[in-house]
Amino acid sequence: MNEGIWILEVDEGQISQVIHNLVINAQQAMPEGGVIRVKVKNIMAREEELIQLGESRYVRITVEDDGIGIREEHLSKIFDPYFTTKQKGNGLGLSVAYSVVKNHSGQIEVESELGVGTRFHIYLPVTDKAAGEGREDRKARNGRGRILVMDDEEMVRGVTGEILGHLGYEVEFARDGDEAVEIYKRRRGSGKLFDLVIMDLIVPGGMGGKEAIKKLLELDPKVKALVSSEYSNDPVMSEYREHGFRGVITKPYKREELIETVYKAVNL
Ligand SMILES: Nc1ncnc2c1ncn2[C@@H]1O[C@H](COP(=O)(O)OP(=O)(O)OP(=O)(O)O)[C@@H](O)[C@H]1O
Ligand SMILES: [Mg+2]
Repeated sequence: MNEGIWILEVDEGQISQVIHNLVINAQQAMPEGGVIRVKVKNIMAREEELIQLGESRYVRITVEDDGIGIREEHLSKIFDPYFTTKQKGNGLGLSVAYSVVKNHSGQIEVESELGVGTRFHIYLPVTDKAAGEGREDRKARNGRGRILVMDDEEMVRGVTGEILGHLGYEVEFARDGDEAVEIYKRRRGSGKLFDLVIMDLIVPGGMGGKEAIKKLLELDPKVKALVSSEYSNDPVMSEYREHGFRGVITKPYKREELIETVYKAVNL
């Protein structure tokens, strides 16, 4: 199906998170069920008025639904952080998508008609590098050890688990600080502790990383922990050492950065 699609050099974890976010939105827009179409197409910039970027070749990924559609007056707001029309929405899916695509020098566009459906297009620039090139200097960072990942977002747990699991780490998950402490206590009882804990700084409605690290330090003064957040200017992120962390990772994770930070934290 994708034969002849130009090769992209992207952060796999991040781009799959973006597509995942769009598919989840599409699904939520069709409570009665329906069809979600994901399409991929080569695009020459000069043939596409939408593109306001500099490269000449793009690959366009489209996620299309025939759901409820988006109100005209909402269209300019949907990419804003925390804009949501859903009872249990965080309003983060599209703002994450927007920043990831922008970091890839790409563009995200939306077309929508109320009651008819919605189409999100992601344009990603094609680099001249052939597949696999540019990966050579990538260090082998295969890992060994047990890592506890605490994050309230299922998607973050999923993506992190996938990346770290792939490298050979054993990964366990907690949804908030309380659960992390529980799991840690249980582990301690069995004598097998974690080589690293990665904790989300802010957990809406639950114990976040700042509190949780205090409890973990009481249980195990040698605990190695990283703090993660999308709020890179939160004081805990800059003064992480004072709070008992060994390092920070900003979200959305860049695959390479996650691998490198985890490797250093586990091995140093
Ligand atoms: N496919 C779609 N169909 C209809 N409306 C959509 C669609 N995608 C996004 N929206 C609108 O855009 C808003 C923002 O989407 P976004 O993904 O950023 O947040 P959310 O889905 O509300 O919450 P979260 O993704 O954090 O769980 C949604 O609340 C919804 O109103
Ligand atoms: Mg969403």
